[in-house]
Amino acid sequence: FKLILVAGARPNFIKIAPLMHALQNHPAIHAILVHTGQHYDEKMSDLFFRQLNIPQPDINLEVGSASHAVQTARIMEGFEQVCLKVKPDMVLVVGDVNSTVACTLVASKMGIKTAHYEAGLRSRDRSMPEEINRLVTDSISDYFYTTSIDADENLLKEGVDASTIHMVGNLMIDTLAKNLPNINSSALTLNLINKDRSIAWGTDFTKDNFGVMTFHRPSNVDDRQQLLTLVKIWGKIAAHMPLLFPIHPRTYKNIQLFGLQEEVDKIAQLYLVESLGYFEFISLVRNARFVLTDSGGIQEETTYLNIPCLTVRPNTERPVTIWEGSNKLIRIEDIEDEIMLILKGQGKKGKAPKFWDGHTATRIVQLIEKIAGKTAYAVQH
Ligand code: UD1
Repeated sequence: FKLILVAGARPNFIKIAPLMHALQNHPAIHAILVHTGQHYDEKMSDLFFRQLNIPQPDINLEVGSASHAVQTARIMEGFEQVCLKVKPDMVLVVGDVNSTVACTLVASKMGIKTAHYEAGLRSRDRSMPEEINRLVTDSISDYFYTTSIDADENLLKEGVDASTIHMVGNLMIDTLAKNLPNINSSALTLNLINKDRSIAWGTDFTKDNFGVMTFHRPSNVDDRQQLLTLVKIWGKIAAHMPLLFPIHPRTYKNIQLFGLQEEVDKIAQLYLVESLGYFEFISLVRNARFVLTDSGGIQEETTYLNIPCLTVRPNTERPVTIWEGSNKLIRIEDIEDEIMLILKGQGKKGKAPKFWDGHTATRIVQLIEKIAGKTAYAVQH
Protein backbone atom coordinates (compact mmCIF):
# COMPACT_ATOMS: atom_id res chain seq x y z
CA PHE A 1 0.00 0.00 0.00
CA LYS A 2 1.70 3.17 -1.19
CA LEU A 3 1.01 6.25 0.93
CA ILE A 4 2.27 9.70 -0.02
CA LEU A 5 2.68 12.14 2.86
CA VAL A 6 2.85 15.80 1.89
CA ALA A 7 4.71 18.49 3.83
CA GLY A 8 5.45 22.02 2.64
CA ALA A 9 5.75 24.55 5.41
CA ARG A 10 7.34 24.68 8.85
CA PRO A 11 4.29 23.66 10.90
CA ASN A 12 3.77 20.69 8.55
CA PHE A 13 7.19 19.27 9.39
CA ILE A 14 6.33 19.16 13.11
CA LYS A 15 3.12 17.24 12.28
CA ILE A 16 4.65 14.84 9.78
CA ALA A 17 7.59 13.77 11.99
CA PRO A 18 5.70 11.36 14.31
CA LEU A 19 3.84 9.88 11.34
CA MET A 20 7.06 9.16 9.47
CA HIS A 21 8.51 7.53 12.59
CA ALA A 22 5.40 5.39 13.09
CA LEU A 23 5.49 4.29 9.44
CA GLN A 24 9.20 3.54 9.21
CA ASN A 25 9.69 -0.15 8.37
CA HIS A 26 5.94 -0.74 8.39
CA PRO A 27 5.31 -4.20 6.87
CA ALA A 28 2.27 -3.20 4.80
CA ILE A 29 2.41 0.56 4.25
CA HIS A 30 5.14 2.12 2.16
CA ALA A 31 5.41 5.80 3.12
CA ILE A 32 6.72 8.24 0.52
CA LEU A 33 7.50 11.76 1.73
CA VAL A 34 6.95 14.65 -0.68
CA HIS A 35 8.31 18.07 0.33
CA THR A 36 6.74 20.75 -1.85
CA GLY A 37 9.50 23.27 -1.10
CA GLN A 38 7.03 25.97 -0.02
CA HIS A 39 9.43 26.65 2.85
CA TYR A 40 13.03 26.16 1.74
CA ASP A 41 15.40 28.09 4.04
CA GLU A 42 17.84 26.25 6.28
CA LYS A 43 16.03 27.88 9.23
CA MET A 44 12.47 27.23 8.02
CA SER A 45 13.00 23.71 6.71
CA ASP A 46 16.31 21.75 6.91
CA LEU A 47 16.87 22.51 10.59
CA PHE A 48 13.48 20.98 11.41
CA PHE A 49 14.23 17.84 9.42
CA ARG A 50 17.49 17.41 11.31
CA GLN A 51 16.24 18.18 14.80
CA LEU A 52 13.07 16.11 14.48
CA ASN A 53 14.90 13.29 12.75
CA ILE A 54 12.58 13.29 9.75
CA PRO A 55 13.90 11.14 6.90
CA GLN A 56 15.03 13.08 3.85
CA PRO A 57 12.07 13.67 1.52
CA ASP A 58 11.81 11.13 -1.30
CA ILE A 59 10.84 13.97 -3.61
CA ASN A 60 11.24 17.75 -3.31
CA LEU A 61 9.18 19.88 -5.69
CA GLU A 62 11.23 22.99 -4.85
CA VAL A 63 8.43 25.41 -5.64
CA GLY A 64 9.75 28.26 -3.44
CA SER A 65 7.96 31.53 -2.70
CA ALA A 66 5.52 33.18 -5.08
CA SER A 67 2.01 34.64 -5.07
CA HIS A 68 -0.68 32.32 -3.78
CA ALA A 69 -1.89 31.41 -7.25
CA VAL A 70 1.57 30.80 -8.67
CA GLN A 71 2.77 28.85 -5.62
CA THR A 72 -0.37 26.69 -5.58
CA ALA A 73 -0.19 26.12 -9.35
CA ARG A 74 3.49 25.12 -9.21
CA ILE A 75 2.76 22.61 -6.45
CA MET A 76 -0.15 21.17 -8.46
CA GLU A 77 1.96 20.79 -11.62
CA GLY A 78 4.77 19.10 -9.75
CA PHE A 79 2.53 16.89 -7.66
CA GLU A 80 0.58 15.62 -10.67
CA GLN A 81 3.82 14.26 -12.13
CA VAL A 82 4.63 12.63 -8.77
CA CYS A 83 1.24 10.90 -8.64
CA LEU A 84 1.54 9.71 -12.25
CA LYS A 85 4.92 8.18 -11.48
CA VAL A 86 4.38 6.81 -7.98
CA LYS A 87 0.73 5.75 -8.40
CA PRO A 88 -0.05 6.03 -4.68
CA ASP A 89 -3.03 4.27 -3.10
CA MET A 90 -3.60 7.23 -0.84
CA VAL A 91 -2.34 10.77 -0.20
CA LEU A 92 -2.23 12.20 3.31
CA VAL A 93 -2.02 15.97 3.79
CA VAL A 94 -1.70 17.93 7.03
CA GLY A 95 -2.64 21.42 8.19
CA ASP A 96 -3.93 24.31 6.13
CA VAL A 97 -1.14 25.68 3.98
CA ASN A 98 -1.05 26.10 0.20
CA SER A 99 0.67 22.71 -0.14
CA THR A 100 -2.25 21.05 1.67
CA VAL A 101 -4.93 22.29 -0.70
CA ALA A 102 -2.84 21.98 -3.88
CA CYS A 103 -1.99 18.30 -3.37
CA THR A 104 -5.51 17.36 -2.28
CA LEU A 105 -6.94 18.93 -5.42
CA VAL A 106 -4.52 17.04 -7.65
CA ALA A 107 -4.98 13.66 -5.97
CA SER A 108 -8.75 13.76 -5.71
CA LYS A 109 -9.14 14.57 -9.42
CA MET A 110 -6.90 11.62 -10.25
CA GLY A 111 -9.20 9.34 -8.26
CA ILE A 112 -6.65 8.81 -5.48
CA LYS A 113 -8.04 8.58 -1.94
CA THR A 114 -7.07 11.54 0.22
CA ALA A 115 -6.92 11.96 3.97
CA HIS A 116 -6.67 15.29 5.76
CA TYR A 117 -5.12 15.47 9.20
CA GLU A 118 -6.32 18.56 11.10
CA ALA A 119 -9.61 18.51 9.21
CA GLY A 120 -12.65 20.49 10.30
CA LEU A 121 -10.95 23.47 11.94
CA ARG A 122 -12.79 26.68 11.06
CA SER A 123 -12.03 30.31 11.89
CA ARG A 124 -15.04 31.39 9.78
CA ASP A 125 -12.83 34.21 8.50
CA ARG A 126 -12.39 33.93 4.76
CA SER A 127 -9.91 36.79 4.66
CA MET A 128 -7.39 34.26 6.03
CA PRO A 129 -5.79 32.28 3.20
CA GLU A 130 -5.61 29.27 5.52
CA GLU A 131 -9.40 29.25 5.97
CA ILE A 132 -9.88 28.96 2.20
CA ASN A 133 -7.34 26.13 2.17
CA ARG A 134 -9.19 24.33 4.97
CA LEU A 135 -12.61 24.70 3.33
CA VAL A 136 -11.46 23.51 -0.08
CA THR A 137 -9.39 20.62 1.29
CA ASP A 138 -12.24 19.33 3.45
CA SER A 139 -14.82 19.64 0.70
CA ILE A 140 -12.98 17.06 -1.44
CA SER A 141 -11.12 14.81 1.03
CA ASP A 142 -12.18 11.20 1.66
CA TYR A 143 -10.99 10.73 5.25
CA PHE A 144 -10.94 13.30 8.04
CA TYR A 145 -8.59 13.09 11.01
CA THR A 146 -9.41 15.73 13.61
CA THR A 147 -7.73 17.23 16.67
CA SER A 148 -10.82 18.18 18.69
CA ILE A 149 -14.55 17.65 18.96
CA ASP A 150 -15.52 21.05 17.52
CA ALA A 151 -13.84 20.02 14.25
CA ASP A 152 -16.01 16.89 14.11
CA GLU A 153 -19.10 19.03 14.63
CA ASN A 154 -18.07 21.48 11.90
CA LEU A 155 -17.61 18.64 9.41
CA LEU A 156 -20.93 17.02 10.32
CA LYS A 157 -22.70 20.37 9.82
CA GLU A 158 -21.09 20.62 6.39
CA GLY A 159 -22.56 17.24 5.46
CA VAL A 160 -19.52 15.00 5.84
CA ASP A 161 -20.36 11.32 6.44
CA ALA A 162 -19.77 10.56 10.13
CA SER A 163 -18.08 7.24 9.34
CA THR A 164 -15.19 9.08 7.64
CA ILE A 165 -14.46 11.41 10.58
CA HIS A 166 -12.02 10.28 13.27
CA MET A 167 -10.95 12.29 16.28
CA VAL A 168 -7.32 11.25 16.61
CA GLY A 169 -5.78 13.96 18.78
CA ASN A 170 -2.86 16.20 18.01
CA LEU A 171 0.31 15.31 16.08
CA MET A 172 2.08 18.50 17.17
CA ILE A 173 1.64 17.29 20.73
CA ASP A 174 3.14 13.89 19.77
CA THR A 175 6.26 15.76 18.69
CA LEU A 176 6.21 17.97 21.77
CA ALA A 177 5.67 15.15 24.28
CA LYS A 178 8.43 13.07 22.73
CA ASN A 179 11.02 15.85 22.62
CA LEU A 180 10.34 17.68 25.88
CA PRO A 181 12.65 15.52 28.01
CA ASN A 182 15.55 16.36 25.67
CA ILE A 183 14.94 20.08 25.60
CA ASN A 184 17.45 21.83 27.79
CA SER A 185 17.07 25.57 28.24
CA SER A 186 20.09 26.31 30.34
CA ALA A 187 22.49 26.25 27.41
CA LEU A 188 20.57 28.70 25.27
CA THR A 189 22.46 31.49 23.52
CA LEU A 190 20.71 33.42 20.76
CA ASN A 191 22.33 35.62 18.12
CA LEU A 192 20.64 38.96 17.70
CA ILE A 193 19.66 39.90 14.17
CA ASN A 194 21.76 42.68 12.62
CA LYS A 195 23.85 43.03 15.75
CA ASP A 196 27.22 41.68 16.64
CA ARG A 197 26.12 40.20 19.90
CA SER A 198 24.04 37.49 21.45
CA ILE A 199 21.84 37.11 24.49
CA ALA A 200 22.04 34.21 26.87
CA TRP A 201 19.92 32.23 29.27
CA GLY A 202 20.88 32.96 32.85
CA THR A 203 22.11 36.49 32.23
CA ASP A 204 19.73 38.33 29.89
CA PHE A 205 16.72 36.16 30.66
CA THR A 206 15.77 33.48 33.17
CA LYS A 207 12.72 31.31 33.86
CA ASP A 208 9.46 33.31 34.08
CA ASN A 209 11.29 36.59 33.55
CA PHE A 210 10.74 37.10 29.85
CA GLY A 211 8.04 36.91 27.20
CA VAL A 212 8.12 35.21 23.79
CA MET A 213 6.49 36.77 20.78
CA THR A 214 5.78 35.71 17.20
CA PHE A 215 3.93 37.62 14.47
CA HIS A 216 3.62 36.65 10.82
CA ARG A 217 -0.07 36.76 9.79
CA PRO A 218 -0.56 38.91 6.68
CA SER A 219 -3.42 40.74 8.48
CA ASN A 220 -0.98 41.91 11.18
CA VAL A 221 2.28 42.46 9.32
CA ASP A 222 1.52 43.26 5.67
CA ASP A 223 0.15 46.75 6.36
CA ARG A 224 2.59 49.49 7.43
CA GLN A 225 0.24 51.29 9.82
CA GLN A 226 -0.77 48.05 11.52
CA LEU A 227 2.84 46.94 11.88
CA LEU A 228 3.85 50.35 13.26
CA THR A 229 1.06 50.15 15.85
CA LEU A 230 2.39 46.74 16.87
CA VAL A 231 5.98 48.00 17.12
CA LYS A 232 4.84 50.74 19.52
CA ILE A 233 3.06 48.19 21.69
CA TRP A 234 6.13 45.92 21.72
CA GLY A 235 8.00 48.92 23.12
CA LYS A 236 5.49 49.28 25.97
CA ILE A 237 5.68 45.59 26.88
CA ALA A 238 9.45 45.42 26.67
CA ALA A 239 9.60 48.24 29.21
CA HIS A 240 8.31 45.73 31.77
CA MET A 241 10.15 42.58 30.80
CA PRO A 242 12.61 41.28 28.15
CA LEU A 243 10.71 40.28 25.01
CA LEU A 244 12.23 37.63 22.74
CA PHE A 245 11.09 37.77 19.14
CA PRO A 246 12.17 34.93 16.82
CA ILE A 247 11.16 36.62 13.62
CA HIS A 248 9.46 35.03 10.61
CA PRO A 249 11.00 35.97 7.23
CA ARG A 250 7.75 37.62 6.13
CA THR A 251 7.75 39.96 9.14
CA TYR A 252 11.45 40.76 8.88
CA LYS A 253 11.09 41.65 5.19
CA ASN A 254 8.16 43.94 5.97
CA ILE A 255 9.99 45.74 8.78
CA GLN A 256 12.70 46.59 6.22
CA LEU A 257 10.23 47.40 3.44
CA PHE A 258 8.25 49.80 5.64
CA GLY A 259 11.41 51.42 7.06
CA LEU A 260 10.61 50.40 10.65
CA GLN A 261 13.98 48.94 11.68
CA GLU A 262 15.07 52.15 13.40
CA GLU A 263 11.84 52.23 15.39
CA VAL A 264 12.44 48.61 16.45
CA ASP A 265 16.08 49.29 17.37
CA LYS A 266 15.01 51.98 19.83
CA ILE A 267 13.34 49.42 22.08
CA ALA A 268 15.84 48.41 24.73
CA GLN A 269 14.63 45.01 25.88
CA LEU A 270 13.17 43.80 22.56
CA TYR A 271 15.43 41.05 21.23
CA LEU A 272 15.04 40.15 17.57
CA VAL A 273 16.52 36.76 16.73
CA GLU A 274 16.33 34.74 13.53
CA SER A 275 13.57 32.17 13.36
CA LEU A 276 14.66 29.38 15.69
CA GLY A 277 14.90 25.63 15.53
CA TYR A 278 12.24 23.51 17.21
CA PHE A 279 14.26 22.73 20.35
CA GLU A 280 15.30 26.33 20.89
CA PHE A 281 11.81 27.65 20.37
CA ILE A 282 10.11 25.16 22.67
CA SER A 283 12.71 25.68 25.37
CA LEU A 284 11.92 29.40 25.30
CA VAL A 285 8.16 28.86 25.39
CA ARG A 286 8.17 26.37 28.25
CA ASN A 287 10.15 28.83 30.42
CA ALA A 288 8.40 32.03 29.37
CA ARG A 289 6.03 34.05 31.54
CA PHE A 290 3.74 34.48 28.54
CA VAL A 291 3.54 34.06 24.77
CA LEU A 292 2.16 36.77 22.51
CA THR A 293 1.40 35.47 19.03
CA ASP A 294 -0.77 35.32 15.92
CA SER A 295 0.25 31.76 15.03
CA GLY A 296 -2.01 28.72 14.80
CA GLY A 297 0.18 25.93 16.15
CA ILE A 298 1.63 27.92 19.04
CA GLN A 299 -1.88 28.22 20.54
CA GLU A 300 -1.81 24.42 20.84
CA GLU A 301 1.75 24.09 22.14
CA THR A 302 1.15 26.68 24.89
CA THR A 303 -2.06 24.88 25.86
CA TYR A 304 -0.16 21.63 26.31
CA LEU A 305 2.61 23.39 28.25
CA ASN A 306 0.05 25.44 30.21
CA ILE A 307 1.77 28.74 29.48
CA PRO A 308 -0.53 31.80 29.20
CA CYS A 309 -0.94 32.60 25.50
CA LEU A 310 -2.36 35.85 24.11
CA THR A 311 -3.41 35.46 20.49
CA VAL A 312 -3.76 38.74 18.63
CA ARG A 313 -6.50 37.76 16.21
CA PRO A 314 -10.24 38.37 15.97
CA ASN A 315 -10.95 34.63 15.77
CA THR A 316 -9.33 31.23 15.99
CA GLU A 317 -9.84 27.94 14.19
CA ARG A 318 -8.62 26.22 17.38
CA PRO A 319 -11.31 27.19 19.97
CA VAL A 320 -10.51 24.20 22.16
CA THR A 321 -7.36 26.06 23.23
CA ILE A 322 -9.67 28.71 24.67
CA TRP A 323 -12.36 26.48 26.24
CA GLU A 324 -9.86 24.13 27.79
CA GLY A 325 -6.42 25.59 27.37
CA SER A 326 -4.38 28.62 28.37
CA ASN A 327 -5.13 30.64 25.24
CA LYS A 328 -6.99 33.94 25.02
CA LEU A 329 -8.00 35.91 21.91
CA ILE A 330 -7.27 39.61 22.28
CA ARG A 331 -7.43 42.87 20.33
CA ILE A 332 -4.32 44.90 19.57
CA GLU A 333 -5.49 47.73 21.82
CA ASP A 334 -5.81 45.35 24.79
CA ILE A 335 -2.34 43.78 24.55
CA GLU A 336 -0.72 45.92 27.21
CA ASP A 337 -3.55 45.47 29.76
CA GLU A 338 -3.58 41.73 29.20
CA ILE A 339 0.17 41.49 29.70
CA MET A 340 -0.14 43.47 32.93
CA LEU A 341 -2.73 40.98 34.20
CA ILE A 342 -0.30 38.14 33.52
CA LEU A 343 2.53 39.97 35.28
CA LYS A 344 0.22 40.33 38.30
CA GLY A 345 -0.16 36.55 38.33
CA GLN A 346 -3.55 36.45 36.64
CA GLY A 347 -2.49 34.63 33.47
CA LYS A 348 -4.88 32.05 32.03
CA LYS A 349 -4.24 28.41 32.84
CA GLY A 350 -5.93 25.30 31.49
CA LYS A 351 -5.50 21.64 30.65
CA ALA A 352 -4.69 19.55 27.59
CA PRO A 353 -7.71 18.46 25.50
CA LYS A 354 -8.68 14.83 24.94
CA PHE A 355 -6.17 12.71 23.00
CA TRP A 356 -3.46 15.36 23.13
CA ASP A 357 -1.35 12.64 24.66
CA GLY A 358 1.52 11.70 22.37
CA HIS A 359 -0.26 8.77 20.68
CA THR A 360 -1.95 10.43 17.73
CA ALA A 361 0.39 9.04 15.06
CA THR A 362 -0.36 5.50 16.27
CA ARG A 363 -4.11 6.14 15.97
CA ILE A 364 -3.72 7.48 12.44
CA VAL A 365 -1.56 4.55 11.34
CA GLN A 366 -4.18 2.12 12.70
CA LEU A 367 -6.85 3.86 10.62
CA ILE A 368 -4.68 3.71 7.50
CA GLU A 369 -3.97 0.01 8.13
CA LYS A 370 -7.71 -0.64 7.96
CA ILE A 371 -7.98 1.24 4.66
CA ALA A 372 -4.93 -0.62 3.31
CA GLY A 373 -6.50 -3.94 4.34
CA LYS A 374 -9.67 -3.12 2.46
CA THR A 375 -7.71 -2.10 -0.63
CA ALA A 376 -5.76 -5.37 -0.61
CA TYR A 377 -9.06 -7.24 -0.39
CA ALA A 378 -10.53 -5.25 -3.29
CA VAL A 379 -7.50 -6.02 -5.47
CA GLN A 380 -7.56 -9.77 -4.73
CA HIS A 381 -11.25 -10.25 -5.47
C1 UD1 B 1 2.85 29.83 5.61
C2 UD1 B 1 1.41 29.34 5.72
C3 UD1 B 1 0.88 29.65 7.11
C4 UD1 B 1 1.80 29.14 8.20
C5 UD1 B 1 3.21 29.67 7.97
C6 UD1 B 1 4.18 29.16 9.00
C7 UD1 B 1 0.07 29.42 3.61
C8 UD1 B 1 -0.99 30.16 2.91
N1 UD1 B 1 0.54 30.01 4.76
O1 UD1 B 1 2.82 31.24 5.70
O2 UD1 B 1 -0.38 29.04 7.26
O3 UD1 B 1 1.34 29.59 9.46
O4 UD1 B 1 3.63 29.28 6.65
O5 UD1 B 1 5.46 29.64 8.78
O6 UD1 B 1 0.46 28.36 3.17
N2 UD1 B 1 10.11 32.84 3.07
C9 UD1 B 1 11.47 32.75 3.29
N3 UD1 B 1 12.01 31.52 3.51
C10 UD1 B 1 11.26 30.39 3.52
C11 UD1 B 1 9.87 30.50 3.30
C12 UD1 B 1 9.32 31.74 3.08
O7 UD1 B 1 12.18 33.75 3.27
O8 UD1 B 1 11.81 29.29 3.72
C13 UD1 B 1 9.50 34.16 2.82
C14 UD1 B 1 9.00 34.26 1.40
O9 UD1 B 1 9.82 35.00 0.61
C15 UD1 B 1 7.62 34.91 1.51
C16 UD1 B 1 7.28 34.85 2.97
O10 UD1 B 1 8.38 34.31 3.67
O11 UD1 B 1 7.66 36.26 1.12
C17 UD1 B 1 6.04 34.06 3.19
O12 UD1 B 1 6.16 32.66 2.85
P1 UD1 B 1 4.88 31.79 2.45
O13 UD1 B 1 5.22 30.37 2.35
O14 UD1 B 1 4.20 32.43 1.31
O15 UD1 B 1 3.84 32.01 3.64
P2 UD1 B 1 4.04 32.12 5.21
O16 UD1 B 1 3.78 33.52 5.60
O17 UD1 B 1 5.32 31.48 5.66
